Amino acid sequence: MALIKLFSFLALLCVAHIANAMTMPMTGASICSTKGISVKSALPDAMLKQNFASSFYKQAPVYTALSVGTQNYSCSAAGKWAPTGAITYLYDISCLPVMHHKPFTSFISGLWDAAPPVVTSWDIVKLTEKLSPGVALGIHYWIPDPVNATSGKIYAKWDFSKAERFQKDMHKDHAFVVSSEKNIVPDPHDATVNSPWLEEPVLLVNGKKDGELADSVLRFNSNGGAAPNTTCSPGSQLEVKSTLNFWFYGGHWADTVM
Ligand SMILES: *[C@@H]1O[C@H](CO)[C@@H](O)[C@H](O)[C@H]1NC(C)=O
Ligand SMILES: *[C@@H]1O[C@H](CO)[C@@H](O)[C@H](O)[C@H]1NC(C)=O
Ligand SMILES: *[C@@H]1O[C@H](CO)[C@@H](O)[C@H](O)[C@H]1NC(C)=O
Repeated sequence: MALIKLFSFLALLCVAHIANAMTMPMTGASICSTKGISVKSALPDAMLKQNFASSFYKQAPVYTALSVGTQNYSCSAAGKWAPTGAITYLYDISCLPVMHHKPFTSFISGLWDAAPPVVTSWDIVKLTEKLSPGVALGIHYWIPDPVNATSGKIYAKWDFSKAERFQKDMHKDHAFVVSSEKNIVPDPHDATVNSPWLEEPVLLVNGKKDGELADSVLRFNSNGGAAPNTTCSPGSQLEVKSTLNFWFYGGHWADTVM
């Protein structure tokens, strides 16, 4: 039931998009214009005080996305949960006024949290790819260190190359980005449950940007996603539901913002 509700609301989002999008967007563009939007207006005072993402306040995002899925953890030899990746799907929410992004994201989080445990993040990915709604942007997951295969590090990747709106785009094979992390700030509402907010600048591999989807990604408005702050038995695995926002800046499609 909860999953059906989740998809019903995501479907409503599509209808809202069709109503709001005035013209057919260019290939690779957000459905509604993001021009003039500032993340500053989307942030609570607690984060403004900490200058979270302050270098982006004068820049419009190219994509504003809702991300729904899970973050994975495995238990280290020391009995602590360590991140091992994530599988989430991203939906374009550019047609929602920015003030609605946070409550809408929490609302979808409530539906996703209520879905039975047999429903996995892969089910969300597979169902979305099958239905291929206009709001579908792409998948988010983690990859092994592309610079140093033996470092044991993992890096976040987003891939929009399969999204409907990129299919006629000659440059679609470059519609991905791999990022590192910086300026990590604990979630202002409940840092024990919600994953930290952060900036994710594109990773350089041999001096070259690893993907052209964005130069930077912001992660914020987290609902869930953090590992429980408990000891664990080494080797055990854990998936934690995570629903949040990613905003994408710069990259090859930056000139679609108008
Ligand atoms: C994370 O969880 C997903 C979803 O169940 C799973 O398919 C994937 O293999 C896991 N990835 C890692 C790195 O543990
Ligand atoms: C790659 O990572 C390993 C393990 O951390 C390290 O010993 C090695 O120096 C790194 N190699 C390079 C080229 O950075
Ligand atoms: C985790 O628990 C420890 C011990 O109870 C505490 O000191 C620490 O602040 C907690 N960390 C978070 C992120 O809540």
